[in-house]
Amino acid sequence: MRLSVIGCGYLGAVHAAAMASLGHDVVGIDVDERKIESLSRGEAPFFEPGLEEILTAGIESGKLHFTTDMSAAAGAQVHFIGVGTPQQKDGYAADLTYVNAAVDALIPHLSEGDIVAGKSTVPVGTAAELAERVSPTGATLVWNPEFLREGWAVKDTIDPDRLVAGVPAGPEGERAADILREVYYPSVEKGTPFIVTDYATAELVKVSANAFLATKISFINAMAEIAEVTGADVTQLADAIGYDARIGRRFLGAGIGFGGGCLPKDIRAFSARAEELGRGESVAFLREIDEINMRRRDRAVQLVVDGLGGSVFKKNITVLGAAFKPHSDDIRDSPALDVAVRLHGLGAWVTITDPAAIENARRVHPQLNYVEDRDEALRGADLVIVVTEWDEYRRELSPEHAASLTAGTVIVDGRNCLDAAAWRAAGWTYYGMGRP
Ligand code: UGA
Repeated sequence: MRLSVIGCGYLGAVHAAAMASLGHDVVGIDVDERKIESLSRGEAPFFEPGLEEILTAGIESGKLHFTTDMSAAAGAQVHFIGVGTPQQKDGYAADLTYVNAAVDALIPHLSEGDIVAGKSTVPVGTAAELAERVSPTGATLVWNPEFLREGWAVKDTIDPDRLVAGVPAGPEGERAADILREVYYPSVEKGTPFIVTDYATAELVKVSANAFLATKISFINAMAEIAEVTGADVTQLADAIGYDARIGRRFLGAGIGFGGGCLPKDIRAFSARAEELGRGESVAFLREIDEINMRRRDRAVQLVVDGLGGSVFKKNITVLGAAFKPHSDDIRDSPALDVAVRLHGLGAWVTITDPAAIENARRVHPQLNYVEDRDEALRGADLVIVVTEWDEYRRELSPEHAASLTAGTVIVDGRNCLDAAAWRAAGWTYYGMGRP
């Protein structure tokens, strides 16, 4: 099938390459010339395991092209909209400028019977408005939210755990759902749940999934706060409640909390939209979720201050990690980087390392000292803090080796990812998040 993908950021670039890998003829379209040039060379503009392989394969097979020319969308049967919906500069609501611009630019190139499939995360109600603009062309709008996780984006796109299609009522909607089933044929044949809904449900599925995940993380972080004043161990607590299949252990990792380009902005946009709809109280708890999340960063900073005897001024602190999570170079709303910047603000000499995110971090926070090599970064540190649980720090750094490089032996485990007993046995003073 011929497909176009409008917007070649994280979502769009992965989607375009993944659809080509399924055998479709795909054109990826973006207004950013540098991004298009890089993708056309088979180079991913961001770190995502497995993406360059499918980009290169798609380009070499002739099934995948990238361009800045919107007219290249003409002739495709399905047009995916995968542009960003960032938080507005002056509020919590989502900024729909890019979605509106993409749809307006696409409309002149649509033909009767085309499908426009929205993938961006949007406030509920957006699809119905866009459908009114699209329908005079004879094309059908569907809402097909994306659930990919950074770091697993290729796998999540090619082999998702569910597919959701919000469609208009009646035969037009049934036809649109069938066309989407053809697009995602390997998943559909495999029996992956394919849920057909109305627009509002599809839009809400996406934001409520992210709200639930954020809630799960903040729930366990709230338990960490209670553990901190009672001497309990939140990791054991998470293990124990996680064995209950109704609860589940995943996303019960207590630590410095969630960040990235999705969870924080999505829960805020959800609150803003609920307020517009007169139902602000229904999701008022998301404010608490946000606040619990931000408090964990304060806690991590406090542990560092305590670990250094009350002041970080002119102390050498090595921060292991900058990305908002491992297997990513994304530093958007990264709790890791925020903790590093706060420590710098308190007068510490902060050295920071990360296997993938240094370049991005340096661009935004040039005041920190960036060192690529982990061991070099550790040399002479008075205190070490782990803020992104890369294997390089979690599995591959032995406490003995670390102690041979650092000046002090205090470690703060901002992700509860280290073996506390092993670090203590090697002579370190270990501080976890909600662990004694
Ligand atoms: C999230 C969702 O997981 C995806 O399903 C969704 O498609 C995506 O947002 C999106 O809306 O585009 P992502 O932002 O890639 O994906 O990251 P997550 O894996 O959800 O992690 C988010 C944050 O939560 C990270 O900072 C991570 O360190 C933190 N986290 C995660 C915890 O603090 N504890 C945990 O137990 C799990």
